[in-house]
Amino acid sequence: MPYTAAVLTVSDRASQGIYEDASGPAVAAFLAEKGYEVVRCALVPDERAEIASLLRDFVAEDIALVVTTGGTGFSPRDVTPEATISVCDRMAPGIPEAMRAASRAITPHAVLSREVAGISERTLIVNVPGSPKAAIENLEAVIDALPHGLELLRGGCGDGAVA
Ligand code: MTE
Repeated sequence: MPYTAAVLTVSDRASQGIYEDASGPAVAAFLAEKGYEVVRCALVPDERAEIASLLRDFVAEDIALVVTTGGTGFSPRDVTPEATISVCDRMAPGIPEAMRAASRAITPHAVLSREVAGISERTLIVNVPGSPKAAIENLEAVIDALPHGLELLRGGCGDGAVA
């Protein structure tokens, strides 16, 4: 059984319809290509409470992997990492470390992403930046390590059933 996944796009402008969300669909397609069953996609503005609320919904639905895209930079509205930290029980710093290290080979601006990853109950939450290009570049750096982490987290049951 494939692991379930959710994609949360965090963007004021996309949520207001100023432009179309390209990152969410790109991340969802990437995850599907890698064998995940993408069961939820959502779009929220850069509001900490709204981001955290959606993340809590995904955790309550026992979704194995949640990828957020956007809101990891330095702009005053960028609060995705803080919202993620607020719902996590344990952080997984190796994931953003690897993403930033790999991304530094592509752009010096990689260090400006404050992205985090962490575990809430049985759900792994991973932040990536907001541009489709950056989102996929970051995911590429860690995607091969995630199934083993999810197996450890969820007792080896791909569909999230309790062992
Ligand atoms: N990482 C990769 N691999 N490729 C990129 O183009 N852009 C950087 C960084 N990480 C980038 C990247 C830039 S310019 C910023 S400001 C930060 O991600 C944060 O992006 P965000 O605010 O869209 O989350």
